[in-house]
This record gives sequence, structure tokens and C-alpha cells, in this order.
Amino acid sequence: MALPKHVAVIMDGNGRWAKARFLPRTEGHRRGIQSLRTLVRCAREKGIEHLTVFAFSSENWRRPQEEVSALMSYFVMALQKEAIPLSEADIQLHIVGDTQAMGEDLRAAIARAEATTMHCRSMTLNICTNYGGRWDIVQAARQIVDKGLAIDEQTLGEHMCMQWAGPVDLLIRTGGEKRMSNFLLWQASYAELYFTDVLWPEYAAEDFEAALQWYDGRERRFGRTGDQVRSV
Ligand code: IPE
Ligand code: IPE
Ligand code: MG
Repeated sequence: MALPKHVAVIMDGNGRWAKARFLPRTEGHRRGIQSLRTLVRCAREKGIEHLTVFAFSSENWRRPQEEVSALMSYFVMALQKEAIPLSEADIQLHIVGDTQAMGEDLRAAIARAEATTMHCRSMTLNICTNYGGRWDIVQAARQIVDKGLAIDEQTLGEHMCMQWAGPVDLLIRTGGEKRMSNFLLWQASYAELYFTDVLWPEYAAEDFEAALQWYDGRERRFGRTGDQVRSV
């Protein structure tokens, strides 16, 4: 079975899941953390090398203040609680995005959690927080300008976030929307796109397995013809 090396997931649908149950939106986010735990365990068991998830976009600051604060405090709690279990599972954690804009508490929790898992090698878990695909391209371009280098695809690619993970092979979005929402614009330029109506708090191991099965049936042509791909 052809396994993607790098899987990215837009975990969407927490609010709708909660609303349908007359619960506060924040309850959807809380339940969503459980789905993420399941996904991480499943990806590790399958032998995925890099798992990248979208936890908070640069646009999500526009949400009501109470929702943003609840998300940030869940994030701090999850980092504190999960760092040791992740290191026991040999998973290296990275928080990717503009973390400078985060509160002191969160930045400290991020640094501690990353340090706890730094030695792990079996899989990387990249949590995109205050991340935007456009922001990523701009930060890469700025670094290149500061170094006085010429801008070309190779150099820009080398300065984008998540060098260790390489291009995204499979991008999954839950919650029924079919859009990128400013996620990994550069890294996912040739990703296979998989959309499911399942809302994130209900996402289960079988749903991930279904996406992997579907990926196995794709023919990745990268611009070539199908005949060319099949003859190599
Ligand atoms: C995704 O779920 C989680 C975040 C964006 C933090 P949503 O909160 O966007 O859920 P819906 O799309 O409103 O259902
Ligand atoms: C994208 O979901 C961001 C995350 C999943 C963290 P949104 O729910 O914020 O996306 P839009 O705004 O509906 O496109
Ligand atoms: Mg949404």
C-alpha cells in the first residue's frame, strides 16, 4: 500500500458539532482534542512520518474573544498534559506559526513541550497555530532578503516552515467545506486533497484509514502523463 509520508489535516467542524447538540462551541473544541489524540495514535501506528494539523489560523483571531481565550487555554493544558505521552510514543512535537504573537504562558508551554520531545524520531507532529500560508511565504521571503540572497523556488522553499517534513502528500479536511482556508499554500501545492463531511469531534480511526485507502488509489503524475508514470 502506498503510504503518504506527510499528512496534513484541517480539523474543521467543532462549532457545528457542538451547536447540533445545544452545547457551547468551546465544548466542540474540547472534544476535538480527543479526536486529535486518536489521529496521532493512528498515524504513528500506520508509520506516517510527518503529521501536520491546523489548530488555529491567523484569521481565527476574528472569532469572539471568549472562544479565542478558551482555545488558547485548552492549548496550554493540552501541551502540558501531552508532552510526556508524546515523548513516550517517540513523537517529536513542533508548534508552527507566528508564535511571537502568543501570550507569555503559551510561549513557555510551547518551549517546554518541544524540548520534552526533541529527541524523538518515529514521527513529527506539527501543530499549526497562528499559522497562515501567506504569512509563511512572507516570512520566508523576509529571511531571504535579510540574507541578501536571490529569490527563486529553491531558496524560497528552503525558508518555508517545516523543512523537516517536506511536501504534503495527503491533505484531509473534515467538516464538509472544500477550501484551503490559507493553510499550507506552498507545501501542499501537489497534495492529494481529501474532503469528508465528518465533523472533527466525531473523527475516528476508521475515517483516517478510509483516507489512506483512498490515497493508495491515486495516481500521482506531477505533470507527466499516466502512461509515463506507469512505465517507470
Ligand atoms: C475548527 O472548528 C476549529 C478551529 C477553527 C479552531 P470550527 O470552530 O471552525 O467549527 P465550525 O466550522 O464552526 O463548525
Ligand atoms: C480553518 O478552519 C482553520 C482551522 C481548522 C484551525 P476555519 O473554520 O477557521 O475556516 P473557514 O474560516 O471556515 O474557512
Ligand atoms: Mg470552521
